[in-house]
Amino acid sequence: MPQEDGNIVEMHGITKRFPGVLANENVTFCVRSGEIHALLGENGAGKSTLMNILSGLYKPDEGEIFVKGKRIQIGSPRHAIEAGIGMVHQHFRLVENFSVAENITLGMSTPRFLLDMAAIEDEVLALSKEYGLQLDPKAQIWQLSVGEQQRVEIVKMLYRRADVLILDEPTAVLTPQETRELFATLERMKETGRSIIFITHKLEEVMQVADRVTVLRAGRVAATADKTDVTSRQLASLMVGKEYSPTLPGKTALETAPVLTLSDVTAYGDRGTVALDGVSLEVKAGEILGIAGVAGNGQRELTEVITGLRKTTSGTISLLGQDITNRTPLEVINSGVSFVPEDRYGTGMAPNLSLVDNVILKSYRTRIMCKGPFINYDAARRQTQGLVEQFQVKCAGIYSRARLLSGGNAQKLLLGREISSDPKLLIAAYPTRGLDIGAAEAIRSILINQRNQGIAILLISEDLEELMRLSDRIAIMYEGKIMGTLDRDEWDIERIGLLMAGVRDVQHEEALT
Ligand SMILES: Nc1ncnc2c1ncn2[C@@H]1O[C@H](COP(=O)(O)OP(=O)(O)O)[C@@H](O)[C@H]1O
Ligand SMILES: [Mg+2]
Repeated sequence: MPQEDGNIVEMHGITKRFPGVLANENVTFCVRSGEIHALLGENGAGKSTLMNILSGLYKPDEGEIFVKGKRIQIGSPRHAIEAGIGMVHQHFRLVENFSVAENITLGMSTPRFLLDMAAIEDEVLALSKEYGLQLDPKAQIWQLSVGEQQRVEIVKMLYRRADVLILDEPTAVLTPQETRELFATLERMKETGRSIIFITHKLEEVMQVADRVTVLRAGRVAATADKTDVTSRQLASLMVGKEYSPTLPGKTALETAPVLTLSDVTAYGDRGTVALDGVSLEVKAGEILGIAGVAGNGQRELTEVITGLRKTTSGTISLLGQDITNRTPLEVINSGVSFVPEDRYGTGMAPNLSLVDNVILKSYRTRIMCKGPFINYDAARRQTQGLVEQFQVKCAGIYSRARLLSGGNAQKLLLGREISSDPKLLIAAYPTRGLDIGAAEAIRSILINQRNQGIAILLISEDLEELMRLSDRIAIMYEGKIMGTLDRDEWDIERIGLLMAGVRDVQHEEALT
């Protein structure tokens, strides 16, 4: 039974199985007339499957569909269009050598020789003008940009009188400019009473353009809500099913001189073998450079040569253009480097000292802490109290011993202490290792925040998912070498994995075989 008068589409209890996969599980999804309804979810959540069912491409295993109050079976895309439902797929279905107008008539039941092409071209032009979808009806598809091809698909659905338009991740192929234009078009379609189902995995887009949102997670509905009733943070949690910190916003790293530069740095490890073998890398202000690699491939030695804990045998390290190769740890700290080491309680903190003493440990040389030769305990107490509050360190009091802190709270205090000295460069080695999800997310948020405030961050982690979420670029280490440095748009798990395994240029290798 349909539930609500204002609904143009209702899908009830939809279940769809593929071999080995439950793509949709008992999904109920309703769309009102004249709304933009976002269908939000991570990759693989089942968004496309659900809409492929609504547009007649797949048959559901269970469930029923009502359109305009009537229960219908949608056996094919043509059925769907007859019911007023049209879908623009992620991969367009246009014929390259046909004109825009010809493509728009493709698949219609009228035989082609009966079509009045000139009249069709006029109508296409009129539609494209009405909705701000600039198009030349006579142009051939192969002449068009991807954005223009998408417009053809949209106009095609408008031409067929679709009053429910499904767009599957339409912005994935668009420039920011084209995305703005598309959103304006969607608004116009809404004004004319049409309903739009807008599939996306991008929160900002939901907040920007949707009236309501349904979140799918692992094939099930996590929630349906009015946009005004939810925050993007809540949506994010619904989407991933756990506490979630925002992913990186667009690149903020300015094209300025790098904060940290390593040129051809070589160093020995503890056992006298080469631990760093000609390492060159750069970290800029406002970027997180992730270091991926199986632990033990030079990551620790890398942090040590930068922080002055290990000598280099050749190469140079500079900070904001100033040579800091083989300086003492204190000199390095004073030049603006903060360090969250992998052994929290060895290099990082003194477990038997109080929180206050641990804060002093790092900052006793800075001015607020010193009155002449004496340590200003009052300032130290205030700073510790401030850190505990700001970073929500749960403790029995600032004079309790550091070793009584849980791993997550110790890490928050340590990171807070390192940040409070206003570093230019922050090195964080395995900062979330061993922490529970909540604490790990808190640490990640702090790192993103610092990055957004313009700190250069070198982040070492074994957790690839973490690195891919937090990094602007990822450098991969293997046997003391940098195997490659990849931008966000260049990396995928497989490529990083191969480089971690010592397989240098994948594409190059493929070309050879
Ligand atoms: N035609 C298909 N055959 C087999 N499995 C599929 C097919 N289409 C989708 N799946 C699987 O169903 C799940 C949901 O996929 P999909 O609906 O494409 O998710 P989304 O669009 O949210 O990224 C995934 O695990 C996917 O691998
Ligand atoms: Mg999809």
